Amino acid sequence: MSIMVKKISAVYPGSFDPPTNGHLDIIVKASRLFSEVIVAITDNVNKKHIFSLQERLNLVQKSIKHLKNIKITSFSGLLADYLEKINSFIVIRGLRALSDFEYEFQMALMNRKLNKKVETVFLLPEQSYTFLSSSMVKEIALLGGNTADFVPKYVDKELKKRVVNLTKN
Ligand code: PNS
Repeated sequence: MSIMVKKISAVYPGSFDPPTNGHLDIIVKASRLFSEVIVAITDNVNKKHIFSLQERLNLVQKSIKHLKNIKITSFSGLLADYLEKINSFIVIRGLRALSDFEYEFQMALMNRKLNKKVETVFLLPEQSYTFLSSSMVKEIALLGGNTADFVPKYVDKELKKRVVNLTKN
């Protein structure tokens, strides 16, 4: 059952390198609250990603194809500017633990300072995902661990292939 807040779209920004089951959980929860969820993948050239922007777009796309009200896009530059450009000012972020809070709090207030129309809505993931992060998943994969429980099936397959390629070079 969905409890729609309003006929309003919300933006879920992130690196999604790679998308995890925790990200998906937040996307599903947001899709029940908002009429449209725009997953906005950052194209930050200064960050070292394991997957290119195009690959991350594809990984998210493949993982959410069962959901109807989701749009996947990318952005570069400031999130606050991107929100202005698409005229959508609700930002969704997942809050896993107290350790996330300081960074998320700072980011939410900074985004509001940069664009006063921006409001950040924090969603809590299912408890089983509170320890999950893309960086940990990457580390586990690179060190030969099993990531099947942490990412969607398709992402797991692509992650394994990428690790094989990276360790070959
Ligand atoms: O998945 P992540 O890496 O935690 O997402 C962080 C993200 C992409 C939401 C954040 O770094 C961001 O918004 N980057 C865009 C640049 C920007 O606006 N920086 C100022 C934020 S206060």
